[in-house]
Amino acid sequence: MTAQIIDGKNFAVALRERVAEHTAYLKQQHDITPGLAVVLVGEDPASQVYVRSKAKQTVEAGMHSYQHKLAVDTTEAELLALIDQLNTDPAVHGILVQLPLPEHIDEALVINAIDPAKDVDGFHISNAGLLATGQQAMVPCTPLGCLMMLREYCGNLSGQNALVIGRSNIVGKPMAQLLLRESCTVTVAHSRTRNLPELVANADIVVAAVGRPLFIEGGWIKPGATVIDVGINRIEKSDGTTRLVGDVDFAAAKEVAGAITPVPGGVGPMTIACLLANTVTACCRARA
Ligand code: GUN
Repeated sequence: MTAQIIDGKNFAVALRERVAEHTAYLKQQHDITPGLAVVLVGEDPASQVYVRSKAKQTVEAGMHSYQHKLAVDTTEAELLALIDQLNTDPAVHGILVQLPLPEHIDEALVINAIDPAKDVDGFHISNAGLLATGQQAMVPCTPLGCLMMLREYCGNLSGQNALVIGRSNIVGKPMAQLLLRESCTVTVAHSRTRNLPELVANADIVVAAVGRPLFIEGGWIKPGATVIDVGINRIEKSDGTTRLVGDVDFAAAKEVAGAITPVPGGVGPMTIACLLANTVTACCRARA
């Protein structure tokens, strides 16, 4: 069997179109435009690319984009003062502080200073707690995108065996909470898990977010399973050039799985689309 390839790019285009329609409606009916503030501290090249891409897609969806680029030696107090200002600015409905932050800044302190209602990343402890207790929360963008694709490919997720590989606050933990909310039987594995092949073989759904290239072998996958690969790892080829690979050995896994996301072009494009969707949600909730 050859798996269906889950096209995250197409999914993201469709979601961004829905967000743009919603934004146009808010403007037309209520004369309001959602605004997203993105804060970048320092000049990490990968972060700069992400931030540029977020700003571009925000504007394309008809929203206001506010970019705050701060020097690498910005103090924690200065950053907290900016967040205070954004928290009280009625034109800003969503705030995202690009991670990682420089080492002299306490990441948790900064994230938890964001007004939870504007926390479009869903990283604030209040949002993590609301999600874990089944209440209305801002949901982290990457797991939200994964869930949307799973719902489309698997239909009703209830009762399915879901394996989340990775336990980060950004992906693994919220992904497990979302799948629990869908009534999956959820197992969380990670880099130290001893019987990973056995767990993978029992899973109807695998979400790989462990950050290790080709960590999950194709032969472990249960025939017909749905595989969502969150990993983006750069590896060196024999000719010295590099290529992007996921956490799953895609070439082997696609011969066994029922459906699988490629890397690149799978989960990645959905993350920013979900960020835009969360910004519209935050804007609507602020008005309610
Ligand atoms: N850095 C890498 N991914 C993310 C993300 O989803 N949100 C934020 N704030 N920073 C990131």
